[in-house]
Amino acid sequence: MKKVGFVGWRGMVGSVLMQRMIEEKDFSLITPTFFSTSQTGQAAPPFAGPNAGTLEDANNLDALAAQDIIITCQGGDYTSEIYPALRARGWNGYWIDAASTLRMKDDAIIILDPVNQKVIDDGLNKGIKTFAGGNCTVSLMLMALGGLFTHDLVEWAAVSTYQAASGGGAKHMRELLNQMGILEQSVANELASPASAILDIERKVTSTMRDGSLPVDNFGVPLAGSLIPWIDTQLDNGQSREEWKGQAETNKILSTNQLIPIDGLCVRIGALRCHSQSFTLKLKRDIPLTEVETLLASHNEWVKVIPNDREITMCELTPAAVTGTLTTPVGRLRKLNMGPEYLSAFTVGDQLLWGAAEPLRRMLRILI
Ligand code: HSE
Repeated sequence: MKKVGFVGWRGMVGSVLMQRMIEEKDFSLITPTFFSTSQTGQAAPPFAGPNAGTLEDANNLDALAAQDIIITCQGGDYTSEIYPALRARGWNGYWIDAASTLRMKDDAIIILDPVNQKVIDDGLNKGIKTFAGGNCTVSLMLMALGGLFTHDLVEWAAVSTYQAASGGGAKHMRELLNQMGILEQSVANELASPASAILDIERKVTSTMRDGSLPVDNFGVPLAGSLIPWIDTQLDNGQSREEWKGQAETNKILSTNQLIPIDGLCVRIGALRCHSQSFTLKLKRDIPLTEVETLLASHNEWVKVIPNDREITMCELTPAAVTGTLTTPVGRLRKLNMGPEYLSAFTVGDQLLWGAAEPLRRMLRILI
């Protein structure tokens, strides 16, 4: 059995990965070692089985180099420090990483096997040993719209995202919920009385939002009752880094010969862990809507085409419906007024599952 080291397995993405590995009984197929930056020597988690021993030091290059495969959800700083040092000392194992640090390197592949199994297979045959999970919005888009992209039917895509707090991290989720609670508390009495005036309630909420009483250490500004039309850092061309990733990573995942332009605005909203995205797609030709639906639905076993019907859409195409599932629904499919090649689409997906942990877990399965 392959020796597999896990780093960052206790964080949010790592915990989702562990949960999925338990569900799929992956631990019975490997010899796991758990690494820690702070609790070396303590017992390994019981879910890993009887032979997992104790926690190893995540900065111990000798212990890391003893692994055939390392999966890290520890974050970009850890990758930047440890990965080059391990490779420099000649370690030739497989590195599977949730962080963005290595994604765009020539000798790394962005993994999303339901979409780019062939790219992964070709890479393995060429001796590629470094694999990175994609940006969550990119992976979720391709899981939902893979049927159009892999048939080379997309001329370009314009997107608006509605991204959940979990994309920022666990602290961001707590901050959003605390903000929501404080806003509700600020008008709890008025809400209890049906006679109170809604504009008085709104004024009080807005004043609470602006008077500095909300915690904003992580988001920088209130998110509850608001939104933030900027995610990640600012680039010189006016894009946010999150927006830049859309085109760069999609084309790398698909290994396109001719660049597919993808651009749009990325927006943080008050959802917890599901990213949603609204697309305008310019198709390469006028394809009947029924054919579009068939292509999308048959691409992979997780995509689900939601009929463009009000009731079904409201029940099935929302973060509330999709959170915690591997389903990647796509709906609001219709031809737009701009012409028969212009298609709208709306997708929802769990940012921590297909958006982060699941592609890593599946890459491990490919290797063992
Ligand atoms: N950058 C994403 C976000 C999450 O902030 O929502 C990670 O892909």
